[in-house]
Amino acid sequence: MSMQGKTLVISGATRGIGKAILYRFAQNGVNVAFTYNKNEEEAAKIAADIETNHRVRAKHYRLDILEPEQYIELFKQVDADFERVDCFVSNAIIYGRSVVGGFAPFMRLKPKGLNNIYTATVLAFVVGAQEAAKRMKLVGGGAIVSLSSTGNLVYMPNYAGHGNSKNAVETMVKYAAVDLGEFGIRVNAVSGGPIDTDALKAFPDYTEIKAKVEEQSPLKRMGNPTDLAGAVYFLCDPEQSAWLTGQTIVVDGGTTFK
Ligand SMILES: NC(=O)c1ccc[n+]([C@@H]2O[C@H](COP(=O)([O-])OP(=O)(O)OC[C@H]3O[C@@H](n4cnc5c(N)ncnc54)[C@H](OP(=O)(O)O)[C@@H]3O)[C@@H](O)[C@H]2O)c1
Repeated sequence: MSMQGKTLVISGATRGIGKAILYRFAQNGVNVAFTYNKNEEEAAKIAADIETNHRVRAKHYRLDILEPEQYIELFKQVDADFERVDCFVSNAIIYGRSVVGGFAPFMRLKPKGLNNIYTATVLAFVVGAQEAAKRMKLVGGGAIVSLSSTGNLVYMPNYAGHGNSKNAVETMVKYAAVDLGEFGIRVNAVSGGPIDTDALKAFPDYTEIKAKVEEQSPLKRMGNPTDLAGAVYFLCDPEQSAWLTGQTIVVDGGTTFK
């Protein structure tokens, strides 16, 4: 009940983990403002489905996290469409050409690819969270969550660029948590083990990763997008996590320790 009538802003909710988070909030009566990059048609379909089946407001906006300052304009549009902002989830991730030189073995890493990943992961989090926090202050608080990944705890082939930026965003989360706490704004991260999404299917060694996770996890299966959605929702719901801030919750099916 504590979430009903609130508003979530989330990046990259056309598929995968973002989409699962979006539906988790909508099912609990939260209005949703979400972004897409290329898949406008899919975003429109999702917004219509949510408004029809979950009786909350749902609006989609275009965003490129390689241009983090786009968040400033985006939040102005959110202001026009929604009364308040209570939760912000920085979820979108880049792939394809923009990660060339960033998603590679160490000796093939290039500054441009690494910088792109840093921009999309850390700088997008910073600008999005700043804009969200300005609105949260007006309603007496809120919750911010960044997605992270266990690729900063265990080795994953080609993952140095992402792993480093996930480390950096987890550190940024802690600084944001300290500076925003006095306004009732909590800031945390959810770090996922390998989750079956398009992003992971794009890895050249996807089949081996899947087999290894199924073998390694005490739960004997790969993670699903909904496995992370619950943790994100928990971190945003003050009834469940009011004194939890500056943390990273690892949701990895037990794979990191084994
Ligand atoms: N999959 C995993 O194993 C795993 C594990 C742990 C953590 N995570 C983290 O969870 C988050 C979501 O990952 P996922 O696997 O769900 O990804 P995904 O299924 O590939 O979805 C990526 C999302 O990001 C959007 N996007 C792509 N390029 C963008 C850009 N330049 N600007 C703005 N948005 C853009 C996409 O929008 P369009 O569809 O419109 O292009 C899509 O909504 C990421 O932060 C990732 O690091 C993933």
